[in-house]
Amino acid sequence: MTSLLLPLNQSQIDQFQACLLAWFDKHGRHDLPWQENKTPYRVWISEIMLQQTQVKTVIPYYQKFMTSFPTLSELANATQDEVLSHWSGLGYYSRARNLHKTAMIAQNEFNGDLPDNLDDMMSLPGIGRSTAGAILAISRRMRTPIQDGNVRRVLSRLFTIEGDLTKANNQKQLWELADTLTPEKRVDDYTQAIMDLGATLCTRTNPDCSKCPFIKSCNAYLQDRVTEFPNKKPKKSTPLKTEYFLFWYDSDQLLMEKRPQTGIWGGLWAPPSYVSKEEVLNRLNGTKSTFRAPYRHVFSHYKLDIVPVVVHSPKPTAVADSNSRWLPADDWLKAGLPTPIKKIIDSMGTSPNTGPDIGITND
Ligand code: ADE
Repeated sequence: MTSLLLPLNQSQIDQFQACLLAWFDKHGRHDLPWQENKTPYRVWISEIMLQQTQVKTVIPYYQKFMTSFPTLSELANATQDEVLSHWSGLGYYSRARNLHKTAMIAQNEFNGDLPDNLDDMMSLPGIGRSTAGAILAISRRMRTPIQDGNVRRVLSRLFTIEGDLTKANNQKQLWELADTLTPEKRVDDYTQAIMDLGATLCTRTNPDCSKCPFIKSCNAYLQDRVTEFPNKKPKKSTPLKTEYFLFWYDSDQLLMEKRPQTGIWGGLWAPPSYVSKEEVLNRLNGTKSTFRAPYRHVFSHYKLDIVPVVVHSPKPTAVADSNSRWLPADDWLKAGLPTPIKKIIDSMGTSPNTGPDIGITND
């Protein structure tokens, strides 16, 4: 099809949809696990997992999740610990906490199913306008447009939309365009198709324009400016924080605490953490410990240096509140932990006393 100039007329809209769907039929993804039996529940879980996470990472998590929680009511009736353990390694754990909350709300307020309209869907925890649109379009074939990162990138290139795409004026234009382009028929395929185009060809770096069905009509391509879109936001530098994590072993048993619901790894089990060396030494009350070299983990908003403080000592007698537990390290690994904590425990192996340390001991 030829150049896409705004405003679009009906013939251009028809051509755009036909062209994208023809590409999807040939080159889109058709056998992903969530494309089988596209119920609102199954599509919802997939859309949440696919936020900020690539398809190939999501697949095994999705399959295990569906085996454990095949229906919305099974998810609603699970404990938060069970749900979070299925998320271990996927990151952005608020997604899992919201998934569980939403399942309970749907169970109580929407007759055990997800809502069948955009407003109610968007009222649920963790479901924004685009995710709500995707769930309704893919599972119920409702004509509800989407605008995730993939779609924003595709549209910004096709129509050379300049500037920060999250700003109000661009958001308005992008939603209007998304709405104009979304078809009545085959809306489920169209929705998947535009995301697939963004995820497989119209990628952020090294887009494969030679295979793109819109090579003759993409304004950014015609102007040789594809990688200028979407315009880069100035890179913000993220702060570096340090926290001390206490790996207290009593032979093979390791102490863990359930983290508060808010903040990093909310609701997950992890070794007790402290913001300063003094705080951790205070807690140890003279018990011998070794401070290991820090392990750096990068979150979206900051970098965290995790200093493992390793203790081998019988557990103190006065412990065990409901938020702390002693269990063999292997059991914790099976239950699911934040990825950096898992890596640190793994690196300690069967003899957690060995390995590099940074030479600080307090004996
Ligand atoms: N990202 C979010 N939803 C997606 C989907 N359904 N397919 C591919 N990538 C996605």
